[in-house]
Order: sequence, then structure tokens, then C-alpha cells
Amino acid sequence: MLYIGIDLGTSSTKLLLVDENGEIKNSVTKEYPLIFPQPGWSEQEPAEWWNACKTGLKELLAGFDASQVTGIGCGGQMHGLVILDKDDEVIRPAILWNDGRTFKEVDYLNNEIGKSKLSALTANIAFAGFTAPKILWVRNNEPDNFDRISKIMLPKDYINYLLTGVHSCDYSDASGILLLDVEKKCWSEEMMDICGVCEEQMPHLFESYEVIGTVLPQIAAELGLPDGVKVVAGAGDNAAAAVGTGTVGEGACNISLGTSGTIFISSDRFGVDPNNALHSFAHANGKFHLMGCMLSAASSNKWFCDEILNSRDYSALQKDITDEQLGRNRVFYLPYLMGERSPINDTDARATFLGMSMDTTRQDMIQAVMEGVAFAIRDSFEVAKSLGIDIKRSKLCGGGAKSPLWRKIFANVLNITLDIPQTEEGPGYGGAMLAMVGCGKFSSVEECADTFVKVTSSIVPDSEIAERYEERYNTFKEIYPALKPVFKKI
Ligand code: XUL
Repeated sequence: MLYIGIDLGTSSTKLLLVDENGEIKNSVTKEYPLIFPQPGWSEQEPAEWWNACKTGLKELLAGFDASQVTGIGCGGQMHGLVILDKDDEVIRPAILWNDGRTFKEVDYLNNEIGKSKLSALTANIAFAGFTAPKILWVRNNEPDNFDRISKIMLPKDYINYLLTGVHSCDYSDASGILLLDVEKKCWSEEMMDICGVCEEQMPHLFESYEVIGTVLPQIAAELGLPDGVKVVAGAGDNAAAAVGTGTVGEGACNISLGTSGTIFISSDRFGVDPNNALHSFAHANGKFHLMGCMLSAASSNKWFCDEILNSRDYSALQKDITDEQLGRNRVFYLPYLMGERSPINDTDARATFLGMSMDTTRQDMIQAVMEGVAFAIRDSFEVAKSLGIDIKRSKLCGGGAKSPLWRKIFANVLNITLDIPQTEEGPGYGGAMLAMVGCGKFSSVEECADTFVKVTSSIVPDSEIAERYEERYNTFKEIYPALKPVFKKI
């Protein structure tokens, strides 16, 4: 038997073909562009995702016995607003999770409706990246488009719809819309009222491992799949990555270093951060999690290397940075290329280098970027600590986790042990695992994770480096509050 895991990411879709022993037999990546129509805006054409999935699936299966494919599961970039008309045609490009245009709508929700009401209804407050403010933005700025909305979907749910003809959404991804009552696991009537939408416009809700339908015959024929391949609801990419890295059960932690950077703390019980700095979302195993999300993590490194240094050879650029230099860099970087979500919730914030002198080298700047990302995750880590959550170790996954230097910087900035799973392809692998649970190969997500997820190495912090980073972090913490009024002006 074979299972397909899809990671519908922001810069690319990654597809994995996984056998019933959890072994990855093949993987294919298809890149697509991000559109930035204005500074701080971020969009993508849903047709690009579908093309990437279709061409990617054909390549993935070439040379394999496609008749063995049993199930498909997708982990997708969260929060993106996909709106369909009455014929299920896409009305406008999707507005993505890292888009900052909705600051007025966020202000309305958080300050006029009020944070305490939002938190009581949804367990969360509004952030610019969440879907509800985007719905309000379309209502306020594109009323004709708003009037045509027949279905509201998230990115991976649109792919699941094209595969099966079913409008679905799982609880983990639905949590980030801000229309879900996360504790009761149903759409909130009051929130839908506030946003001017009704339940008929929302997709059906499922647990991530539940089967929503089977691949439509014409799509199966086009892709060379057998009849009856089951599609599970899947999950938001962070919950899927948590499954793929075995981050299930009370207190388990995963840090994902992708385009965004997240710290994900699994919990068996529903809980809310009283200040709502961390998101309180459903998990893909049927339980819950808290999460902090920074908007520009590996994308900070990608931007600096690709756009500014004109090189994509990241390991060559990092190779001369030695342990001696860790914690001794005098250059700081604030990673707010697209504003920032957790914990500062500021769409005006922008990336900043600080502290250069005539002897500053290219290496110092590269190191500062990597450190700035780790410090920004530490900000959310500190919020978790302040809630009494004691994180002693964490998994680390995502493209950025391939860098040995970045692993070391993270372990020392957070001063915890980091476990590197066999595959850093968290969301895709998690998607395939959810498909296996949905197809009955395992009775629970936990059982599947216990069977398949292996840690191949662990990075232990070095007390001297960690101490140096402690001092650096204390300085880093002072920079954003000092610059906040300036960001407003620029
Ligand atoms: C999580 C978030 C990002 C996206 C990236 O809240 O916005 O991690 O899911 O794909």
C-alpha cells in the first residue's frame, strides 16, 4: 500500500510517496511565485497550487505501482482566504497568511468588538494573517466580490475540494479562521454574524484524520490513480508538521523553520493564553495546541542570501561561521520583513539591521539574520514559559532545520535540546500519516507517530555559548520597543 502526503507550502508544494512502513519512496517539489501587489500584501493564485499538485502527483507516481495508492492527506499553509462563487470558481487570488493589509479590520475586531469577546467566542484574538479580517477586508474593499461568495475555503481545502468535490475543513486549520469555537469545535454563529457570512458559506468540519471522500473518477483517470483513493481532511501545515515529527501528547514541542517560523506546543486539554499572544488551536490528533508564529523565518535567510547577496548556496555562505563567533556577534537583525505576528502583533514593524561598524563582515550579517530568527522564536518561547509551560526539549523541522549552524544557534538561544527527526518534511509526512489513520492502518495519530517517527540526532546546548546568547537576547528584546514608534512612520 502507498500513501501520498502533500505539503501545500508558500514557496512550493512538496509531495511525498510513503509506503505502509513509513518509508519515503519518492518526493517531488514544485515551486510557484508569491505575488506582492503592494508592500506588506501577499497573494497567490489557487490555480498555481492545483497545477503544482497535478504535475507533481504525476511525477511522484512515475515508475511506481499507482494502483497501490490508498490514501492522500494534505498539510497546507494556514489562514489563506480562498473564495468561490456559486459555480465553485475562484473569485480573486488568495490572500495569504503573511499578508498585512487588514490592519483596520484587525483594529475593528480587537478594539470595537473587543479582544475579550473574540477570545470567549474563538479562544483567539484577531491577527492580520487570520482569515476573518480578510473576509471583512473583502467586504469593505471589494463589495462586488464579497456579494459573490458562495464558499469560504482555506488553501489545502481547495485542493481537497478539487480532488473530491467535497467542501471540507479540519479543526486545526479552521481554528486559524477566527470563526471557529475552538473548544466546542463548531462554527461560531456570533463570529459569522460579525463578518457578514452564514454557515452555508462555510465548509463542513472534520477531524484531520477523517475521510472526507474519494478522488473523483475523472481526476483519478487523469493522475493515473485507482478508483476509490481516500482523501482525509488533512491539517494546517503546523499541525501536520507536528504529526510528522511525532509532536503529540501533553507538552510535546515542535519548532518549524519554514517560510514562517512556529513554536507548537501540543496539549491534551483545551487552554487559552490569557493574553492571547499564543494561538489556541485544535490539533490534528483530535486534541489541542498553543502556537506562536513569526512571519519571516527561513524566508529572512532566503531574502538576504537570494536578493541581497545574490547566492542560493546557503551552506557555502554559512560555512565560515565558527562556534567561537556564536553569541559574540555585535550585529542584530529584526526579522520583520512582513510585519510580525507572535507575540508583538504589529503589521507596521519592518526588518532592521543594527550595530554594524567598519569591521562588520558579510558573515556577521548572515549570522545576525539567523540569530534574529532564533531570538524572535525565543520571544514566543518566553510567553510559553510565562504560562508555566516548561519546555525542556523540542523537535526541529522545516527547510531551515537542514542547516547545522542554524540548529546550533537555536539550541543555544533557547538553551534546550533539539531533536532532529529522520525527515524534516514535517507537513507532507504528517499528511501521509493522517491518511494512514483515515484508511484504518492505525487506530490513532499517536499510534502512527509512535511507530514511524524516529529522531536521528540531538543538538545539546553548550553552556558557554548559551550564556553569551542570554546576554545578546536581553539586548535584542530592547530593540523593537525602541523602534516601534519609528516603524509607524515608515
Ligand atoms: C501559522 C501560519 C504559518 C502558515 C505558513 O499560523 O500562519 O505558519 O501556516 O504556511
